[in-house]
Amino acid sequence: MPPNDGTDLAIATAVVHKPLPHDSAVLHVQGAANYVDDIGEPVGTLHIAIGMADKACGRLKAMGLDPVRAAPGVVAVLTATDIPGRNDVAPVFADEPLFADHKVMFHGQALFAVVARTRDEARRAARLARIDIEANTPAVTIVDALVTGARVQDDYAFGRGDAAAAIGRAAHRLAGEFTIGGQEHFYLEGQASFAFPGEGDEMTVHASTQDPTETQHIVARVLGIPDAFVTVETRRMGGGFGGKESQACAWAAIAALASRVTGHPCKIRLDRDDDFMLTGKRHDFRADWRAGYDNRGVVSGYAVTLNARCGCSADLSPGVCDRAMFHAGNGYWLPDVSIASRRLKTNTVSNTAFRGFGGPQGMIAVERVMDAIARERGIDPLDVRKANLLRAGAERTPYEQAVEDYDTQRAIIEELEVSSDYRSRRKRIAALNAASPIIKRGIALTPVMFGISFTLIPLNQAGALVHLYSDGSIHLNHGGTEMGQGLFTKVAQIVAEEFSVPLHFVRITATNTAKVPNASPTAASSGTDLNGMAAKIAAAAIRERMTAFAASSWNVAPEAIEFRDGRVFAGNISMSFGELAKACRLARVQLSHAGYYKTPEIHWDRLRAKGRPFLYFAYGAACSEVAIDTLTGEMRVLRADLLHDVGASINPGIDMGQVEGAFIQGMGWLTTEELVYDADGRLQTHAPATYKIPVASDTPPIFNTRLYTRPNPTPSIYRSKAVGEPPLMHGISVYSAILDAVHATNPSGQPKLDPPCTPESILKAIASLNGAG
Ligand code: MTE
Ligand code: MOS
Repeated sequence: MPPNDGTDLAIATAVVHKPLPHDSAVLHVQGAANYVDDIGEPVGTLHIAIGMADKACGRLKAMGLDPVRAAPGVVAVLTATDIPGRNDVAPVFADEPLFADHKVMFHGQALFAVVARTRDEARRAARLARIDIEANTPAVTIVDALVTGARVQDDYAFGRGDAAAAIGRAAHRLAGEFTIGGQEHFYLEGQASFAFPGEGDEMTVHASTQDPTETQHIVARVLGIPDAFVTVETRRMGGGFGGKESQACAWAAIAALASRVTGHPCKIRLDRDDDFMLTGKRHDFRADWRAGYDNRGVVSGYAVTLNARCGCSADLSPGVCDRAMFHAGNGYWLPDVSIASRRLKTNTVSNTAFRGFGGPQGMIAVERVMDAIARERGIDPLDVRKANLLRAGAERTPYEQAVEDYDTQRAIIEELEVSSDYRSRRKRIAALNAASPIIKRGIALTPVMFGISFTLIPLNQAGALVHLYSDGSIHLNHGGTEMGQGLFTKVAQIVAEEFSVPLHFVRITATNTAKVPNASPTAASSGTDLNGMAAKIAAAAIRERMTAFAASSWNVAPEAIEFRDGRVFAGNISMSFGELAKACRLARVQLSHAGYYKTPEIHWDRLRAKGRPFLYFAYGAACSEVAIDTLTGEMRVLRADLLHDVGASINPGIDMGQVEGAFIQGMGWLTTEELVYDADGRLQTHAPATYKIPVASDTPPIFNTRLYTRPNPTPSIYRSKAVGEPPLMHGISVYSAILDAVHATNPSGQPKLDPPCTPESILKAIASLNGAG
């Protein structure tokens, strides 16, 4: 079968599968797209700033807040004692107070909130508090936590066979400790919430959140009122990347609490430095691994323990650590395998979801092992990778899910191997390196296999609400949120397709807990899969009623009715879509429908570690070439070629943006983005001056991205595949290429290089490889 074949599964469409622009593209560029901070402020609106702990660990003895209260413009100062409901904003376990009560858990923790006439007055007043904390020595790092033994959740492990015995029997063995840095989300729009008190206990909050439903729950929990009194609305976020999945709730709760106490609309928009210190990040990991393999580098046993710094509370760490485990084998066949996970508790901010949700950390560990094996054997790392891929008769993951389309990943790797010219470039690079003592180049081609579905099964459901008005215009609402990823555009395409009308007939509206209740977070890349299905079901129900009405009024069979190009036909009679809508209304045909969808077939028994947690997998491969300066440690990505599996894409234009953007974000994670905590647990890198994300000039000068569009063999929405997170892991090819360049400084050694590959880290790796460590 030629690689991009399978067109028999593709469905002929008018709107879906088209590269239509993001619905807000023009507004974004004009600055006319509204974010929380753009909402008009009613007279009397108050502004909030947070008072933060200046110690990482200890007992809160006293808070001298009188100077804060006396400061100009201050209307109220809120502490734990002002909370009418529960002082807890934890999404999973009840282990995360909104305001510290008596125990200080991390440096920067929220102790109180100042509510003032202006944002500036609130921020100035917050600095005047006299906080007395009896400090203890904090556990800051992974190593600290391994000493204290503290956990946010019990250890967990799964596997197959006897990894230790297989490693013992193997012809060759290697072991290592690999540390992997965390990552700050650096959404362009920081955390923001604006609360409006209503009648009685009613509260409406406009929040920049990926999870309006959870935000609603937490506002209700903190205020001590039923969920039905709270409405949360989200039109869009200026980026979330997982950082607004659970961690947008606290700010919404503080805004709502301030509104409750003062009776005024209250807004909070975190300053960038405060946002860095107050909100969790990607978990940093240390992977302790052992592998046994044969002369060709084929692995027979792999054992890895994934130590994750979860921070001061569980937050979403249970799911993040589980997903790291699920991806610890990437797309490789590991016959005897053991995957263990430690969820370490530290006196640092609670780490959280970040694009890939732990998957990238588990995956880079096994990719690091492939590189180590290749070096030890003197084989091209790509050949080691290919020799270990899932294959016929060996197509099961370490958690025993059979992978149906495992052949897709080999097809993608082989296609990219050719299109990126990998083999001849490797030869050319070897020649260049031999003649270049200071600048060394490296190249790597790495694969991605990412599981699609929430691993927490109940989250795999969605609702949508479609209204058709009598002029033929369509109001679309669903539980998913828009954070720049183009979800709203894709779901609108699906609805327009269902009615066979142009896209502009569909009015996209803000996510609102009062319209679609009990939604899941927009996360796990599943936004389109879930909400797209729910919206399609809703639109189809309305179309069916319209069809039945048209058939009976025209006296033809329902099969004779055809919706096409904004009109409705039966043979040679026709009317416009709007005319039919109007006629339906007059005939009392219901033109509104709430659609509901739940993902079929998936199940996961965590205790027995058995099941099928993922509906399907998304694949891809990336080839990156880098140059390093061995005197300064500077690095450049010279070229990147990506081939990424999006199935029969709903919108290839948007998907292209997701693939390119995710690669750059993954590259940033592994190269320039470094989080530094001092021994006292203070985050030293809390602004762009000290924390470097990629900028436009870091884009590889040669950057070839292609979509692999073979329709999804699993019947997903229009046979597309989820795309939000998987391509982030193409950044791993940059890490591997840097490793390759470092290796070129001493081809007989085994480099030790831990990401992020900052100049310091690259120089250290070169030094250790050349006996100067
Ligand atoms: N793309 C943009 N522009 N901004 C974002 O915040 N978040 C990512 C990804 N792509 C994000 C993004 C993350 S972490 C996820 S889980 C998915 O989008 C969520 O949206 P989806 O399920 O609709 O793909
Ligand atoms: Mo994405 S990390 O699942 O919000």
